[in-house]
Amino acid sequence: MNMLKSNAVKLMGILLLGMAVSAHGVSDKQRAAIEERIAPAGSVCMEGDSSCGAAVASSGGGAKSPEDIYNTNCMACHATGAAGAPKMGDAGAWTGRMDKGLETVYANAINGINGMPAKGLCMSCSDDDVKAVVDYILDNSK
Ligand code: HEC
Repeated sequence: MNMLKSNAVKLMGILLLGMAVSAHGVSDKQRAAIEERIAPAGSVCMEGDSSCGAAVASSGGGAKSPEDIYNTNCMACHATGAAGAPKMGDAGAWTGRMDKGLETVYANAINGINGMPAKGLCMSCSDDDVKAVVDYILDNSK
């Protein structure tokens, strides 16, 4: 693992290229083509670099999987049963709730009910995201 060094080498390459580019006075078109070609080197993410992770997460917008949302927004209550939440994996806790019908259970997850906050406080989640997470919880509670 010598990524730091190889990135430094790439950076040197970019700097040298930049000097060559300015020295030879290339056209804007050529410059754009070169910039495009070297761009990926600048966007290399090093493993364990948390700043890259944040960039990926913030640009992802909405591409979160139900499992991700569960782990971020629901697990705190639904893994432990906090505040009387039906636990994921506890089939008995869910079967009674399903008597109301799946649509009602979805609606309660989206709008909140008693100790259940609306959307589990996932304000960036769409209704469909929340439904998908409910499906995920139910699938894992059989
Ligand atoms: C602050 C704790 C808390 C969080 C966070 C939370 N829940 Fe809940 N949830 C509860 C509690 C408490 C109940 C039981 C409410 C009741 O029926 O009185 C509940 C009930 C539910 C139910 C059953 C609704 C019904 O009709 O019986 C679903 C589905 C549900 N939660 C989904 C989710 C999802 C999906 C998330 C994450 C996006 C989430 N919850 C996050 C506490 C929480």
